[in-house]
Amino acid sequence: MTAQLKGLLSGEIDPTANAANFTAFVHTVFGFHWVGFYWVRDEELVLGPFQGPVACTRIAKGKGVCGTAWVKNETVVVPDVEAFPGHIACSALSKSEIVVPVRNKQGIVIGVLDIDSAIPSDFSDVDRAHLEEWVSLWVEASHA
Ligand code: SME
Repeated sequence: MTAQLKGLLSGEIDPTANAANFTAFVHTVFGFHWVGFYWVRDEELVLGPFQGPVACTRIAKGKGVCGTAWVKNETVVVPDVEAFPGHIACSALSKSEIVVPVRNKQGIVIGVLDIDSAIPSDFSDVDRAHLEEWVSLWVEASHA
């Protein structure tokens, strides 16, 4: 899977093109409810390329799971979204969620990868490790 993703991203440097294909790949292969990027724009996150139902376009710094992962600068895994204080419900079908910060080559958080699953407790430590590695592949490939 990692090799396939590497192949998909290699040879393209455009961040949007690579983010779009990244979300299509993860969404298609795993069938998650929603897979997408949010980009840091001043003091908020703004919706980027995604696959799945329409989603909220802006998230304030520190708000929701996405804003929390950004501010903490670490991956946040939420086994039960209803138990996460401040969770922003873009879809009632989302039951669990993982948000991985996207750090550019200088180590600055430039966005987050957000994945929502319709299955509770759907994200393991192994998933987390893979997704963090895959986000690094996106950073390596893209001029971001
Ligand atoms: N649930 C996220 C908001 C984004 S949607 O899930 C696509 C959050 O709490 O930050």
